[in-house]
Amino acid sequence: MTKNGNNSASPFLPDRHDLSSLRNAAACCEGCDLYRDATQTVFGEGPERARYMLVGEQPGDQEDRQGHPFVGPAGRILDQGLEEAGIDRDEVYVTNAVKHFSFTNKGKRRIHQKPTAAEIDACRPWLSAELAAVRPEIVVVMGATAARALLGREFRVTKQRGEPVPMGDALAVATIHPSAVLRAPDRDAAYAGFLADLRVAADTRPAE
Ligand code: URA
Ligand code: SF4
Repeated sequence: MTKNGNNSASPFLPDRHDLSSLRNAAACCEGCDLYRDATQTVFGEGPERARYMLVGEQPGDQEDRQGHPFVGPAGRILDQGLEEAGIDRDEVYVTNAVKHFSFTNKGKRRIHQKPTAAEIDACRPWLSAELAAVRPEIVVVMGATAARALLGREFRVTKQRGEPVPMGDALAVATIHPSAVLRAPDRDAAYAGFLADLRVAADTRPAE
């Protein structure tokens, strides 16, 4: 249980579920404790009818400061991957499983902390509402946190990445998180794998 007794974003959802109503309401979400120390809610961004939805973990340090998803180092890897895979940014809605930055202080630095299962679950209503509003054909699930939110706790990114799997009316393609590319001992190999998965997403067509 959180300090304020909340364990879900549900009570903070607006009546209307278009993206701008959702974004405005999410700015005031107190569905778990993460809003307390973070600068601001970082909601998803992109066209209301995007063909692709990309889902990461949570905003990082830069995203928390700037208020936009994937604008830091991981975002640069993502942008490069999308471009090389031939996925047009105009067709992409980008969001995160958790909308507030989770961190611990280490001196002056803010160190990223993995969101807990309870935080992922608490934030899930925003992601569900984004999926319902955008209705993407392809969902690119990046990393274990997004996979836990969207594909369940049994899903293993390492084993099941790069294969389209049904997810509601959409197809999901899982891959590693772009931050994992940055941390990998062999960054070129990790990036190549990430790009291969994005290419699968680019080539996937929904069933008729
Ligand atoms: N990592 C994420 O998962 N999302 C961001 O927006 C930035 C870094
Ligand atoms: Fe609400 Fe999600 Fe932020 Fe928690 S992380 S306060 S559920 S928006």
